[in-house]
Amino acid sequence: MKTAIIYYSMCGNTAYTAEQISKVLDKEVDIIEIMPVKKYPDSGFKKYFWGGKSAVMAEKPKLESYSFKADEYDEIIIGFPVWASRPAPPICTFAQDNKTSLQSKRISAYACQSGAGAEKALKNLKDLIGISEYNAVMVLNDPKDKPNSANDKIIKDFCSKL
Ligand SMILES: Cc1cc2nc3c(=O)[nH]c(=O)nc-3n(C[C@H](O)[C@H](O)[C@H](O)COP(=O)(O)O)c2cc1C
Repeated sequence: MKTAIIYYSMCGNTAYTAEQISKVLDKEVDIIEIMPVKKYPDSGFKKYFWGGKSAVMAEKPKLESYSFKADEYDEIIIGFPVWASRPAPPICTFAQDNKTSLQSKRISAYACQSGAGAEKALKNLKDLIGISEYNAVMVLNDPKDKPNSANDKIIKDFCSKL
């Protein structure tokens, strides 16, 4: 059985982390990027305003089509950026749409943030899927924009639990 990393990333930090995980894991990994049909503005004031509003309103934006069959995987990792202390909405759409198939799987998750809110966001995602615990979790602070060896260790520790 394989491992899936499913992620949404606006500015590349969550995508970068997915690549790092797949390099560290000595397993077959499929990386699946989730994208909203309507893109969020990704610069300036609008980036925080529209993304933040969408997260606070608990929106579930329509997604571009993607290929994911839960049956093919024994380990599923979900990665997302923290928006207003919540998971970025596209990943909430994914979680809601795949809730039933995810509940019977081993789920791990990671959150990329710039400072705070990841724990609350991770709990939100867990509640949305309807699972009591993750297999493994990690929180990284802008790992692509601020690379450092501490992040490498966090990723390695996370992977050792998968
Ligand atoms: C709309 C919006 C809201 C955000 N809210 C938070 C937040 O509540 N806490 C935080 O630490 N970072 C917040 N951030 C920063 C991102 O979580 C952080 O930069 C993350 O690493 C970005 O991941 P990405 O590059 O994969 O998009 C926010 C960013 C955006 C665009």
